[in-house]
Amino acid sequence: MFSQRNGNRPNITEQAELIKEKLLFARKFAAAPRTVGSVTPSSPQLISSMFRNVDWQNTEVVAELGAGTGVMTKEILKRKDPGSRFFAFEIEKELRGRLENDLKIDVYDDAAKLPQVLKAADCKSADLIVSGLPFAVLPNSVTVAVMRAVMRALSDNGTFIAFQYSYHMKSTFERLFEDVSTRLVVMNIPPAVVYECRGVKKQHRPAMRGKEQ
Ligand SMILES: C[S@@+](CC[C@H](N)C(=O)[O-])C[C@H]1O[C@@H](n2cnc3c(N)ncnc32)[C@H](O)[C@@H]1O
Repeated sequence: MFSQRNGNRPNITEQAELIKEKLLFARKFAAAPRTVGSVTPSSPQLISSMFRNVDWQNTEVVAELGAGTGVMTKEILKRKDPGSRFFAFEIEKELRGRLENDLKIDVYDDAAKLPQVLKAADCKSADLIVSGLPFAVLPNSVTVAVMRAVMRALSDNGTFIAFQYSYHMKSTFERLFEDVSTRLVVMNIPPAVVYECRGVKKQHRPAMRGKEQ
């Protein structure tokens, strides 16, 4: 993430790029607050907390839901094993086009399509699903559709890592997963909660698979 990670200040070009990215994000938030869910992209501290426990060498298939301007996407591309597969999702058209153009990757639209996208790519499941989706403000029908997709797509030993700006998803995630841990990241605007979830509960997995089209 630019040279800030090495303790250096970003150079002029990097600073200009950061400002451009923040302005674009703020513009998208103003246009669709219930889809974008935040005024500014995630901080380096939040990104590093999201990936704190990821064993990249043993992660063959990675998916990112709600890539935005790509601050986490870039970090995933840097950290992931070169032989692993990566699937990014971003519903907003201009952001999606920008990601595809800047990062030279395919970006899919609706995160709820994750199982179908994996299937079309001959991938059985995802070992790591990273989410920046703003569940607190998304319509409930979208949250339900996305979580059904996550339950169907996550591998048996897989990890679902999401951030939110409150603890409101804790009880939902605890209903769906065997193991849920949280940590607070204050160095973010606004402060964020990272949820790390493992083990889709048995009673949910078959029901979700039964709905597969
Ligand atoms: C809070 S932003 C997070 C952006 C970025 N990951 C970050 O950490 O800065 C949420 C993003 O999710 C996208 N989004 C919302 N609903 C979506 C959906 N159903 N499928 C894919 N992306 C979605 C929004 O357009 C927005 O870019």
